[in-house]
Amino acid sequence: MIETPSGAARPLPATRLLLFGATGDLSKRMLLPSLYALHAEKLIAPGLRIVGTARSDLDDDAFRAIAGQALDTYLPADLKDDETIAAFLDRLRYVAVDASDPTGFASLAEAVGAGEEQPTAIYLSTAPSLFGSTIAGLQAAGLDGANVRIGLEKPLGHDLASSAAINDAVAAAYTEEQTFRIDHYLGKETVQNLLALRFGNRLFEPLWNAEGIDHVQITVSETVGLEGRVSYYDGVGALRDMLQNHMLQLLALVAMEAPARFGPRSVRDEKVKVLRSLRPIDRATAATHSVTGQYGEGAVAGKAVPGYADELGRASATETFVAVKAHVDNWRWAGVPFYLRTGKRLPNRHSEIYIQFRQVPHSIFGSRGAVLQSNKLLIRLQPEESISLYTMAKEPGLDREGIRLREVPLDLSLTTAFAGFRRRIAYERLLLDLIEGDPTLFVRRDEVEAQWQWVDAIRDGWAAAGVQPRPYAAGTWGPSAAIALTERDGVSWHD
Ligand code: BG6
Repeated sequence: MIETPSGAARPLPATRLLLFGATGDLSKRMLLPSLYALHAEKLIAPGLRIVGTARSDLDDDAFRAIAGQALDTYLPADLKDDETIAAFLDRLRYVAVDASDPTGFASLAEAVGAGEEQPTAIYLSTAPSLFGSTIAGLQAAGLDGANVRIGLEKPLGHDLASSAAINDAVAAAYTEEQTFRIDHYLGKETVQNLLALRFGNRLFEPLWNAEGIDHVQITVSETVGLEGRVSYYDGVGALRDMLQNHMLQLLALVAMEAPARFGPRSVRDEKVKVLRSLRPIDRATAATHSVTGQYGEGAVAGKAVPGYADELGRASATETFVAVKAHVDNWRWAGVPFYLRTGKRLPNRHSEIYIQFRQVPHSIFGSRGAVLQSNKLLIRLQPEESISLYTMAKEPGLDREGIRLREVPLDLSLTTAFAGFRRRIAYERLLLDLIEGDPTLFVRRDEVEAQWQWVDAIRDGWAAAGVQPRPYAAGTWGPSAAIALTERDGVSWHD
């Protein structure tokens, strides 16, 4: 069922999982709760050992206490069950490892039985600056065999060169097939649903091109601000934090050709073609095709919030908002703009893809005074999952004063349609795929590097053109220039 790059058989599920950064924020909020959910649903084998590692000097019990606390805080109430939690915690082991010192991995090797030929999954959710020494340590400990898979959490570098350096360090120990780069958006059910919508229905594909589509908008808006992530976020900014990865992956899924099958090679081959077809936004176009912003004080959901510089405690040139007008230069998408925007401290939290179709070629209702609007397809990814197809319908009446047509949504609420299903968080899917060895929903090196190449050119363009983030009040849709970016083309953002 699963395409493997060489046509080889599907790998064996891992019998041990090593979690680097096991006491960190991501582990507590996402990884441990996800593993618990997989355990509770018996989706991971009873024999799978989970070994947490971090720098702190803890024993198994102390780590279990941290994990128990994390489950208590982050698990939804309906998933909590004392007996199941106890059994899950019982699976956990802990080994203190200083990831910056490759010679200190001996105790880890001993604890996990590194010499044994067991299928192993490793998840690095540490700072990327530690990836190199961690991989050297894993190699020294013999944890680099053909049956090992390694998952890498973002950020994978801050530009093409640093990303390539990380990829090279990983490639020194693991093949591309063993390397699972995480973009948690690909683990979201709704994002996978995009493929179902596009390729599970006959309806859309004939129109899914420059002939049928006027433009595409992708918005990922957040209400949160810095959230205490000062050391990570400042100097990174919205372009590198969100657009380089999650949003370009969404764009690739919207724009790609139909893959031959839902398998790792087919899907990723098609995505990378799109990413390589992105028209560079460079010094000549940076100022006209992109807008950056930084939030000042304002109010979100009726609550007063400070500005970015106040949260940070100093002035900064980091953008907390970015909007770009992108083009995919290929036959299918010639001339179709893709407007992308993302930002922090915007009015609400939502992620959506908005596709505006072209007008009908001729309106038969014009002589009767009716105004037609073009069809739109709105795919809401979060917080709630829905698909709406806006279609023209006639208002009821005898039309003595002309025909009135109105836009009416054909609504498909996936939350309602699949009401009996538990909504899983992205990491459940990704961890299970890593454990089972299915790389379809992970990002291949050529994709990540194509993403960086495009983003680096934008940043160079900003530097050359002196583009600085424009202020916007928290709780608004970014600087007014972001509105002008689309309005110049006669397009309004869908808010
Ligand atoms: C992360 C970014 O990758 O994605 C964060 O680093 C951002 O800044 C987060 O808040 C958004 O993820 P989600 O799943 O909440 O949309």
